[in-house]
Amino acid sequence: AALYSFSASAQDYPTQPITIVVPFSAGGPTDTVTRLIAEPMGKALGQSIVIQNVTGAGGTVAAGQVAKAEADGYTVLMHHIGMSTAPTLYKNLPYNPLEDFATVGLVTEVPMTIIGRKDFEPNTLQELVDYAKANKEKVTYANAGIGAASHLCGMLFMEAIDTQLTTVPYQGTGPALTDLVGGQVDFMCDQTTNTTGQIKGGQVKAYAVTTGERLASLPDLPTTTEAGLDMQVSVWHGLYVPAGTPDDVVQKLTAALQTALKDQNVIDRFAELGTTPVAQERATPEAHTETLSSQTELWKPIIEAAGVSAN
Ligand code: MLT
Repeated sequence: AALYSFSASAQDYPTQPITIVVPFSAGGPTDTVTRLIAEPMGKALGQSIVIQNVTGAGGTVAAGQVAKAEADGYTVLMHHIGMSTAPTLYKNLPYNPLEDFATVGLVTEVPMTIIGRKDFEPNTLQELVDYAKANKEKVTYANAGIGAASHLCGMLFMEAIDTQLTTVPYQGTGPALTDLVGGQVDFMCDQTTNTTGQIKGGQVKAYAVTTGERLASLPDLPTTTEAGLDMQVSVWHGLYVPAGTPDDVVQKLTAALQTALKDQNVIDRFAELGTTPVAQERATPEAHTETLSSQTELWKPIIEAAGVSAN
């Protein structure tokens, strides 16, 4: 009986439903991407996948929780670029992204859009810049807390225009977008996986996309560079399990992720939302670890120069 215990359970994995923890609100961009891949991943693994939204502190509450979870492959974390910014942003981050997790693979890289409430005065990015500078006491910027992609993009925007604005934090950009559509906040920078529908439907004003090239899904939207603003950011996502998870369990998760990223429904829905699945060779622990570590290096001096930090 003793012989049966550990290796057999890793070999049989998965024998029960798997939970993927999403660090932001249901209905937002991270949640959307996770739900799209969870279905084909579950099919590939022969188990159901349950999504659990654990919000708070810009995505760091969820990561802290998964870092301490059982390293058995039944608790998986979906996280994004925030895994590489949190170690610089937070003085007392209760986990080390590079040491406390095993990477499963990258999922997608999502462009961001700078958008405003429908009746917000500025109509172009240049007008937004001028307006924000002239009205910095009253302009409000929504984000999903320190560590969120929307926070990082807002930080870059405020750096680029050399003006500090009032931020209104949410548990995710799902609820932030609801408030933007409702007119409670002025503008935000958020992933196309959340904003494309509202931009196309005319419920928000769109000013620019934060990538080097225009999007096929929103061809009329200028890039930040075209609109005269020196800032670019795109939001990479990856799947993690707690460090110490058996290699063969990680391999099964990676294989399921790769299968999901080839799924035609995933490819089509991602395209509608302005993104694409990563190439198969990037949906691997090696490529994911390399991205996490190079992105951590990349953002550190930028965040330090901006002087932004939390406890
Ligand atoms: C979300 O899922 O709500 C977003 O990814 C939050 C963010 O990082 O801006």
